[in-house]
Amino acid sequence: MNDDRPIGVFDSGVGGLTVLAALQRRLPQESTLYLGDTARVPYGTRSAETVVRYAKNNVRTLVSVSDVKIVVVACNTVSAVALPALTQELRVPVVGVIDAGARAALAATRGGTIAVLGTAGTVRSGAYPRTLAALGHTGHVVTLACPLFVPLAEEGWTHGDIPERVAKKYLAQLPNDVDTVVLGCTHYPLLHDAIRSVLPAGTAIVDGGAATAEHVARVIAARTASMAAQHRLLVTDAPEQMVQLAPAFLGRPIARSDVDLVDVQMTA
Ligand code: DGL
Repeated sequence: MNDDRPIGVFDSGVGGLTVLAALQRRLPQESTLYLGDTARVPYGTRSAETVVRYAKNNVRTLVSVSDVKIVVVACNTVSAVALPALTQELRVPVVGVIDAGARAALAATRGGTIAVLGTAGTVRSGAYPRTLAALGHTGHVVTLACPLFVPLAEEGWTHGDIPERVAKKYLAQLPNDVDTVVLGCTHYPLLHDAIRSVLPAGTAIVDGGAATAEHVARVIAARTASMAAQHRLLVTDAPEQMVQLAPAFLGRPIARSDVDLVDVQMTA
């Protein structure tokens, strides 16, 4: 059956464009509708209750704008705390980024410690260790909040001395036997090179966004669209900022006319 409904994607802000980029690379024939809640970003510092409430607002907005065939939760912090609530809310499949990231980490580890880097909210939720354990992993897992990586990525300070020194300071807290590092936040792929530069050679770095795109491809495999793909971007504030940050996060420039401003549906 052909299904040309778009893939719905949402995030707390612009960071999820890294996941959108992975989806568009893996599924170039699919249309996408992306919502960034730029009026209320960041989510990583907020309570789980607030993140669940915001996430519900976002999916209601997304499905009211378009009849999407799947919702991809690009934000790790939302994926960590809100997936059950969102699954209950929607009739279409809901896919977060944590399950695929955890599976990719399991495929990469050679028996050493898996280190998950994320926001304070993602770390506090325990979602990655819980998911890894549910997948049968019995080895050691550590989680580490790296909050400064988010503003560094948005400031464009992703290469050179400053991000490398910040990465060194954070990652010095990891145990010596780490063999796999999960980039458990939408922004961290931009810091990949800085993170790589302070890790021992041979440490695997896993990007949950790319792994999620593979998973989404499997979920919608039987319902692939054939028409020319269309891509729509929505924000809840400051569209110019998304235009400015798109090259770094999405990997290509966008025009102001590609981004629409929407009000989130605030119902509880
Ligand atoms: N999108 C968030 C995440 O992946 C990072 C930015 C934020 O704190 O909202 O966890």
